[in-house]
Amino acid sequence: MWSCVVLLLLSASVRSQMDETTMDAHWEEWRMTHKRDYQTVEEEGIRRAIWEKNLRMIEAHNQEAALGMHSYTLGMNQFGDMTQEEVVETMTGLQMPLNPAPRVPMDTDGSLIRLPKSVDYRKKGMVTSVKNQGSCGSCWAFSSAGALEGQLAKKTGNLVDLSPQNLVDCVTENDGCGGGYMTNAFKYVQENGGIDSEEAYPYVGEDQPCRYNASGLAAQIKGYKEVPEGDEHALAVALFKAGPVSVGIDASQNSFLYYQRGVWAEIHIFTYIFFIKIKNICGILILAPQTNICSLLI
Ligand SMILES: *[C@@H]1O[C@H](CO)[C@@H](O)[C@H](O)[C@H]1NC(C)=O
Repeated sequence: MWSCVVLLLLSASVRSQMDETTMDAHWEEWRMTHKRDYQTVEEEGIRRAIWEKNLRMIEAHNQEAALGMHSYTLGMNQFGDMTQEEVVETMTGLQMPLNPAPRVPMDTDGSLIRLPKSVDYRKKGMVTSVKNQGSCGSCWAFSSAGALEGQLAKKTGNLVDLSPQNLVDCVTENDGCGGGYMTNAFKYVQENGGIDSEEAYPYVGEDQPCRYNASGLAAQIKGYKEVPEGDEHALAVALFKAGPVSVGIDASQNSFLYYQRGVWAEIHIFTYIFFIKIKNICGILILAPQTNICSLLI
């Protein structure tokens, strides 16, 4: 009886030491990959504890996914040593207006049209590469630029990166790296008479004085429309008829921050599947309806 217990304890302690060694190696590898240097041993201790907690959460989710409990998997990434609150504070940036009712609502007459089961605008050459906004709350600028890139490609056949920095610096109704709303960006591009290309006005991820220069102009718009709040069918119609839409979604959940592949959804009933390119954080996502889409614009 006693020997049995001792043996069990022994094997438990050997196992945890082995886990600790594997964990050390894994941590070092993650630190190298994401180029993390910490000022003090204490800071590294805190960051490692956060990383381990996130890693355990990711592994637990993936074990559940393997059992069919989730439609998507998670993976460790560059947010690993940050708390959820820190990521949201430094990496997002959507500022919803106090009254988010559409100022320029779309015409919903098309709501009776038959829709295809899916549409993938990457295959139609209307989606540029995934970008990284860095530590600047400029998701709204990338989202707006992405929608305009889609429209430009649809109209001209040329896929060109437009300048989120132009928007960060020049949309006075928004707060640059402090956050903003896409409608204000579209309004600026219309009133300004255009937006520069990324090449002419490269991204730096910091607030700067406005340096728009018409010599770098790459696109102009005649107008824009907003999808009515909460109307998923109108969103599908807009996506099908107009092209890639600009969306803001609640990116604060861990399941979103560490999303890897699959259909990201908090619920499991799918009607349409939208292929939407989320520029601010994760790359290509397949979103199911009735998730946390908070604002949709075309
Ligand atoms: C705009 O760009 C052109 C061409 O690069 C340059 O000659 C001009 O000085 C720029 N204007 C301003 C206001 O920076």
